[in-house]
Amino acid sequence: MKYRIFMEKDIYKGNLILVNAETPVRTEENIILSEAAPNVFLQREAAFYLKEVLRKIGGEDGIVTVSGFRSRREQSEIYKMSLSENGEAFTRRYVALPDCSEHQTGLAIDLGLKSGEVDFIRPDFPFDGICGEFRKIASDYGFILRYPKEKEKITGISFEPWHFRYVGTPHSGIMEKLGLCLEEYVDFIKGYGASERLKLSEKAAAEVFYVPFDEKAGETKIPFSEETDISGNNRDGFIVTVRGA
Ligand code: DAL
Ligand code: ZN
Repeated sequence: MKYRIFMEKDIYKGNLILVNAETPVRTEENIILSEAAPNVFLQREAAFYLKEVLRKIGGEDGIVTVSGFRSRREQSEIYKMSLSENGEAFTRRYVALPDCSEHQTGLAIDLGLKSGEVDFIRPDFPFDGICGEFRKIASDYGFILRYPKEKEKITGISFEPWHFRYVGTPHSGIMEKLGLCLEEYVDFIKGYGASERLKLSEKAAAEVFYVPFDEKAGETKIPFSEETDISGNNRDGFIVTVRGA
């Protein structure tokens, strides 16, 4: 069995990192961005799958990719602009504080229905038509609706029907099926370990489990093969996915 060694900094990278007011972004280093749409950037894998969904539903002309990766400075400017234009109550509900926005990870995308004017902070992304088509298959391509209405108390952000987060498959499908937001999913996976894995067989066979970071050793060894994906959770350890298991 081959192993890979993970260091503390690796907790803060990967498709499954949780970013919110309590769990800020820890690094903007090593993010490989690619253009998801003109002047809108996402991490390479997220950009690839976003284009795939849009192609599949023929949504390239009807759906606008409004906002993807934002640097800390951009998030800060948006926050300040919203404070002055919309006031504090609105801004707290719809704009994350700098470093607490998952837009800084390059894994979040705001989508809008192409129409006359698109609101940059709250784009219109309806539940029917082409946007409804996107919603139906987004999780097959790794995307989740990140701020659902019924999770406002947990996410700390108001319902945002336009904001999608790339977490990758099979996680997007599990979250949708079990009705878990990312905060809940990260906790849920901590209930599984290398010897008692979450076993999936519905769309494709896979196993998922959690490995805590070993603080005493200062590193963590995780069994690794070509079928293994490992992401930090941005808190205390790693979520391991073994495909075809
Ligand atoms: N609108 C989301 C919460 C953000 O600013 O990241
Ligand atoms: Zn957003």
